[in-house]
Amino acid sequence: METELTRLLNIKYPIFQAPMAGGSTTPDLVASVSNAGGLGNLGAGYLTPEQIRLAIREIRQRTDRPFGINLFVPEQSNTSEESISRMNDYLNKIRAEIGIAPNPIIPKFAESFEEQVQAVLEENVKLFSFTFGIPSLDVIEAMKQGGTIVVGTATTVEEGKLLQAAGVDAIVAQGSEAGGHRGNFLKSTTESMIGTMALVPQMLDHVSIPVIASGGIMDGRGLIASLALGASAVQMGTAFLASVESGAHAEYKRKIRSSNEDSTEITNTYSGKAARGILTNFMNDVRAYPGQIPAYPIQNALTRDIRQAAAQKNNPEYMSLWAGQGLRLAKERPAAEIIKETIDQASELIRRFKRFG
Ligand SMILES: Cc1cc2nc3c(=O)[nH]c(=O)nc-3n(C[C@H](O)[C@H](O)[C@H](O)COP(=O)(O)O)c2cc1C
Repeated sequence: METELTRLLNIKYPIFQAPMAGGSTTPDLVASVSNAGGLGNLGAGYLTPEQIRLAIREIRQRTDRPFGINLFVPEQSNTSEESISRMNDYLNKIRAEIGIAPNPIIPKFAESFEEQVQAVLEENVKLFSFTFGIPSLDVIEAMKQGGTIVVGTATTVEEGKLLQAAGVDAIVAQGSEAGGHRGNFLKSTTESMIGTMALVPQMLDHVSIPVIASGGIMDGRGLIASLALGASAVQMGTAFLASVESGAHAEYKRKIRSSNEDSTEITNTYSGKAARGILTNFMNDVRAYPGQIPAYPIQNALTRDIRQAAAQKNNPEYMSLWAGQGLRLAKERPAAEIIKETIDQASELIRRFKRFG
């Protein structure tokens, strides 16, 4: 199962564990995946530069294999003070319902991308990936100069072409099945909901760099299908969310295990940015909001106290439960077992196909 990317990264199997910001991709999970022959990725989008440094050091204590760090490309939003305070008033009703104080103090909406990048550069990691756009060419160049492989996220062929022109080494083709935030940055979310099966081969016909298939890939069948489409690796998120090493809350894992392929929706209620997650009361409550939901990262910061309190109170209905459409195939087991079973199943499929020939 050697591909252009396994050779480039010096990894055994073409399996990336998706970076998942928000605490699921613990250093333990990242290192376990890398130790098992895949590529572990830390979702560092919400971490301070210091937390990024610490997490990288923790990963390095657990593995000497390659791993990746992922950040969110910042966006400008021109949400008015008035619409922020209107949403905050609305959220105060939810805060009262779940028993927390109104009007939380929000010192900043997001971490400084430049400072996060600086931390990643200083730590000199094997792979740097990003989503939500394209960072300045200086950032891509500086990473590459330091020997770091740079990977961008695209949801359409046009986004893939722009990423290639910006100099990335590979592209994650994120299909509409994918859990978590949508990476679209050119067109609206509705215009950028292309399934993995349709997106990967069309992307490959229009770019000349390796493509990583992502969205709905849960096992060896998804891996073989992706390789058959021409992908050089897969990036699996939901499959690893339920793993033993994942930092996902116990209630979140329980919801994943009891949900099906039709349990998710695309919503911007939690963060102001479209993302796929299991339907919750929070989504229903905020969907009824009469105004416009503030853009990312403002809404994300406004809802943070609610999500954190819900986690403390073991109430999944007010937590964000990002997950993809492959949900029914997620099982709780160690990350190394997910890799092993995926590879065993893929190898068995290859043997079966050979018998056809
Ligand atoms: C909980 C969760 C958090 C995610 N966070 C990130 C992130 O921080 N950065 C990123 O590039 N992608 C993120 N994603 C998207 C994944 O990279 C990937 O596209 C997706 O998980 C693939 O679909 P799947 O979940 O069906 O495997 C996240 C996905 C999930 C489920």
